[in-house]
Amino acid sequence: MTNRLVICGSPRARGRSAGLSEAVRLAYERAFPADRVDVVRLSDVHIAPCTGCEACASNIGRDELYCVIADDMVRVRLLLNECDELALVSPVYFAGAPAQLKSFLDRLQPYFHANWRAKPKRPAHLHVVGEGGDPHGFGPLVGEVRSALAVAGFSLADVHDWVGRISDGGALPAGVDPLSGGRAHPASAYTCAGPDGVHPRGGSSTGEA
Ligand SMILES: Cc1cc2nc3c(=O)[nH]c(=O)nc-3n(C[C@H](O)[C@H](O)[C@H](O)COP(=O)(O)O)c2cc1C
Repeated sequence: MTNRLVICGSPRARGRSAGLSEAVRLAYERAFPADRVDVVRLSDVHIAPCTGCEACASNIGRDELYCVIADDMVRVRLLLNECDELALVSPVYFAGAPAQLKSFLDRLQPYFHANWRAKPKRPAHLHVVGEGGDPHGFGPLVGEVRSALAVAGFSLADVHDWVGRISDGGALPAGVDPLSGGRAHPASAYTCAGPDGVHPRGGSSTGEA
């Protein structure tokens, strides 16, 4: 049995990311009926921003993933620790992550000071949604997600570009598989070298054109 976790990074409870997250959850349940699928919506939990106190760096006598902030991150961290495969669905906000997602990513810092970086990496998939029309892509979002998830023991396998492809109510284009759809590229295609996140250089597209 594989433990799957879907994280929806939008502050909006009903929007494009929420619709796509639900579609990914249903697709997992259909494709892998024996697996456990948990969902965390950042719109439903309270995860305060990291204050950079670095108390997690000196965790002698404490939980190895100690954080001074006692909020929902404690529960989310347990799900992350148990998870074998992660799907993160997020809107792009000015090429990067919404504040709620950035708080979640920054609160992974205790993993940086623990031994999770050395553990075998588990696969993660990033699904990016957006209105479209902004020429600056989402390279910074990919970089932030890849960097923070790496310390928590995940390797970003691929990026699914759903920008401009999902209705405001969260509906996918008809007949598209939520797990392989969007313009899918290996994560290695994103270098954050320029404002070209939407159409990465190199790498072959594995999803729809
Ligand atoms: C502050 C802000 C910045 C945004 N920046 C972008 C952007 O750079 N590119 C884009 O395609 N959409 C951008 N959008 C649009 C959102 O990505 C879009 O509304 C998306 O549907 C929000 O996700 P949600 O529906 O899951 O809440 C922005 C929206 C907000 C509120």
